[in-house]
Order: sequence, then structure tokens, then C-alpha cells
Amino acid sequence: MGIKIPTLPLTSGTEIPAIGYGVYMMTSAEVEKHLPEALELGYTHIDTANAYFNEVAVGRAIKDAGVPREDLFVTTKLFPQSYPYEKCKADIDATLERLDTDYVDLLLFHQPYGDYVSGWKAMEEAVREGKVRAIGLSNFPIHKIDEILAVAEIKPAVLQVEINPYSNQHELKAALAERGLFDVVFEGWYPLGHGDANLMTEPIFTELAQKYGKGTAQIILRWSYQEGNVTFPKTLNPAHMADNIDIFDFELTEDEMARINALPQHPYYQVPEEPPAFVLATNDYSKQA
Ligand SMILES: NC(=O)c1ccc[n+]([C@@H]2O[C@H](COP(=O)([O-])OP(=O)(O)OC[C@H]3O[C@@H](n4cnc5c(N)ncnc54)[C@H](OP(=O)(O)O)[C@@H]3O)[C@@H](O)[C@H]2O)c1
Repeated sequence: MGIKIPTLPLTSGTEIPAIGYGVYMMTSAEVEKHLPEALELGYTHIDTANAYFNEVAVGRAIKDAGVPREDLFVTTKLFPQSYPYEKCKADIDATLERLDTDYVDLLLFHQPYGDYVSGWKAMEEAVREGKVRAIGLSNFPIHKIDEILAVAEIKPAVLQVEINPYSNQHELKAALAERGLFDVVFEGWYPLGHGDANLMTEPIFTELAQKYGKGTAQIILRWSYQEGNVTFPKTLNPAHMADNIDIFDFELTEDEMARINALPQHPYYQVPEEPPAFVLATNDYSKQA
């Protein structure tokens, strides 16, 4: 095992590793090839979803790697078709079966549509039944987070949203703080702008990369870590995989953080109020390689 990745506390009482391995848009074959490489390097946190259609491969790769389950942090996500209470209960069980595990460390509602209010009760029951250690939301705007908070006995421990230097989510963080929710952990997807060359070649990152002897991706990931975020950069390249967790031996100054936070804000993806077509599509997650 390689680098020891720091963890952040969750309100559930568990700890989440600050960097994970994201497997979005990875085929089952890619997961089985690259996830073991990540585990070997020291990654212990894996971010998948029902909608990635690779949970069976994630489960298989974990078993094959022989890493004890309790040493790993596995996140997955349900899509809106699974939210209605009864369906949610059944689909949580089906998810655990696909991942070949007794529990997941974090279960998220992936998209802010459908019957997420009735589903939240099923999520809470899954926590009480030991099937899920922590629950949270992804891509939910503040007014929909408020709908969950109005019924929640267990508040979301995590919010997973787009976070990168062009989308620092300071407004959403302030809105949660106004509601007294200072301890919700933010997770950033598209931490490297999905590989956007414009982001990676911003002059400030080139300058800081030179100063610290790091790559621009490492500067961006370090910024996100110092912002208090968890991230899971995706890469199929073992050298990048190693670089992306090698960010814990330097620290950006307050002034450098402020300069990065002064970059213009323009998220890559705006979450629409109504469900887009890809969310409405019918999916049969049992059909996986
Ligand atoms: N909740 C949601 O709705 C949602 C949405 C999107 C994503 N996610 C999660 O977030 C994860 C990450 O998002 P993402 O994969 O779209 O975008 P990303 O991690 O921001 O970017 C991935 C791109 O960055 C490149 N890259 C990675 N490390 C690098 C390095 N050290 N140096 C240079 N280039 C590097 C990769 O290319 P190489 O392969 O060449 O390294 C790839 O092209 C996903 O896997 C998923 O788990 C969640």
C-alpha cells in the first residue's frame, strides 16, 4: 500500500477519505483493470453509482483485490426511478447485491427529481438496518435540500456537487451554514473540470505548479482539499492515479487560495429544475457485465 490518505469526519460518526477513485463512464472491463491499480497505490475510497452500470465489476474487483471490506469506503448512488419508498427499499437491497457487500459506506440520491421525500425515509431505515453507514444528496439545489431537511430524522451527511476552481460552491456552502449545517461534507465531482485543458492551463496553476514542484492537476486537487472538499478524480492513467493522491506534502498559502477563489465562476453543468431526458430513461441495472 502506498500513500496514506487523510480522512474527514462525517456526521454519521464514520470517516471519509479525502480523495477517492471515481469510476464514472468506466466500462466493467476498465473497472476491473484500473480499480486494482488504484487500491494498490493506496486508494481506499471508491465512488460509483447505479447509473454507471459498473457496480458488479466494482464488487468483483474489490473481492479479487483481497482488501478487507472494513478498510474501504464505498459510495454508490440511486437514480430517481428508485426513490419511491417501497422501490427505494428494494433497490437498496439490489444495489448491495450487485456490489456483493453487506453495506455501503455512503448512499446518495444522485439527481434532484422524483419522489426523493418518501425515499429519504427508506434511506434512513437502511441506516438503522446497518445496510448503509451514511446518506446524502447529489446535485440538489438548496430549495430541494430544504424539502429533505423538513422531513429528515437523519440529515444528509454529504452533498456531492460539481466543485472545481470554476465552481467553488461558496454560495451553497453559505446557504447550508445559514441553516446551521456546518458539518455537512462537500464532495466535488468534475474536480479537474472533466479534463478541460483551459482549466488545467490557467496561468495561476502553472505558476503554483512550478513553485511547489507539482503538476497543475495536483495544485487544483490541493486547492479543493484545503477548501474542505472530498474529491474523486477519474483517470485510467496509473501515473495520474499516483499524482492525484500525492498532494499531502505541501500547502497553498491563504493568498494563493484567495487568488484561486477569485477565478471567474462558470460551472460546466447547470442542474436543470426539471428532469432531463437521460434521467427519465428506463434502466435495468441487473444487466451488467
Ligand atoms: N454526482 C454526479 O452527478 C457526478 C457527475 C460527474 C462525475 N461524478 C464523479 O466524479 C468523478 C470525477 O469526474 P470526471 O471523471 O468526470 O472528471 P474529472 O475527474 O474532473 O476529470 C477526469 C479527466 O481528468 C484527467 N486527469 C485525471 N488526473 C489527471 C492528472 N493528474 N493530470 C492530468 N489529467 C488528469 C483524466 O484523463 P486521464 O485518464 O488521461 O488521466 C480525465 O480526462 C467521476 O468519476 C464520478 O465518480 C459524479
